[in-house]
Amino acid sequence: MPTDDVIDPGAIAMPQIEAKGFSFTYSGSSNPSIRDLDLEIERGEFVLLTGPSGCGKTTLCRCLNGLIPNFFAGHWEGEFRVCGIDIAKAKTYELAKLVGHVFQNPENQLFSLSVEREIALGPENLGLPRDEIRERVEWAMEIVGISDLRGLAPYELSGGQQQKVAIASVLAMRPEILVLDEPTSFLDPKSAKAILETIARLNEELDMTVILVEHRLDLAARLVDRVLVMNEGELALDGGPREIFGKAAHLMGVGLPKVTLLFQMLREDGLDVGIPIMVEEASAILRELLN
Ligand SMILES: Nc1ncnc2c1ncn2[C@@H]1O[C@H](COP(=O)(O)OP(=O)(O)OP(=O)(O)O)[C@@H](O)[C@H]1O
Ligand SMILES: [Mg+2]
Repeated sequence: MPTDDVIDPGAIAMPQIEAKGFSFTYSGSSNPSIRDLDLEIERGEFVLLTGPSGCGKTTLCRCLNGLIPNFFAGHWEGEFRVCGIDIAKAKTYELAKLVGHVFQNPENQLFSLSVEREIALGPENLGLPRDEIRERVEWAMEIVGISDLRGLAPYELSGGQQQKVAIASVLAMRPEILVLDEPTSFLDPKSAKAILETIARLNEELDMTVILVEHRLDLAARLVDRVLVMNEGELALDGGPREIFGKAAHLMGVGLPKVTLLFQMLREDGLDVGIPIMVEEASAILRELLN
């Protein structure tokens, strides 16, 4: 939980994530990677962040944990607050307690000789008492379903298991916000599904805000509450998955759930029977047509 000294007293009533007219240009670049962003995200939302390569998704994730502007040099304008904290004034460690970040490749995130030691690293760095560290490690392993892997070294694990360890390590910090930047891109479809379902469960059970950058839209579309589509640094679309995938997203070079794409093509071909975002919905439409 955040401590009183880092939290703005007015933060309780504020959106958990709030950007106002925020732009960021990396040092040496001539174009901003985020342009005039206005965004509010409330506690407990499950947000999918998508858009074409280079549109600024990773850059936005770096703002959420304060790597921008504290670690990546550049020029910024406007305001960006996370849990009431202005990222331009925050110390990186303050935001590290509030925002857990899971990267694309879990190998880059795992250093220890055992799963258990790995997950204990974060809480140890927070200087927590030994009992609390043990309790958090057990809790994190259990919630992600990797308690049986505790004694293994990260290099002995599959990609999917490693990604679960990376998520558990982040959860042991008890973050308020979980940011995952393409967490399944190195995984097979079955492991990817398991990871995304675990994330959805964390969102639901712990009321943890989740910001997910993900290309597997067939899986993600059914799980998320809200979809943000970025394009050339701008927030181009913001809405529910049905609204976004059912309408203009294909115009922006954004992937669509395959079933959505199929029904969009059918509509262009003159068969307008609705635009499903899940296979079950497509089945219902087809059954209706056949009856
Ligand atoms: N460290 C950096 N220094 C300078 N420019 C950068 C840096 N990181 C990203 N950029 C630039 O910022 C823009 C947005 O990049 P970003 O990595 O945020 O895109 P992305 O949406 O995550 O792309 P992808 O889907 O390929 O991961 C790109 O033009 C990129 O070249
Ligand atoms: Mg990226």
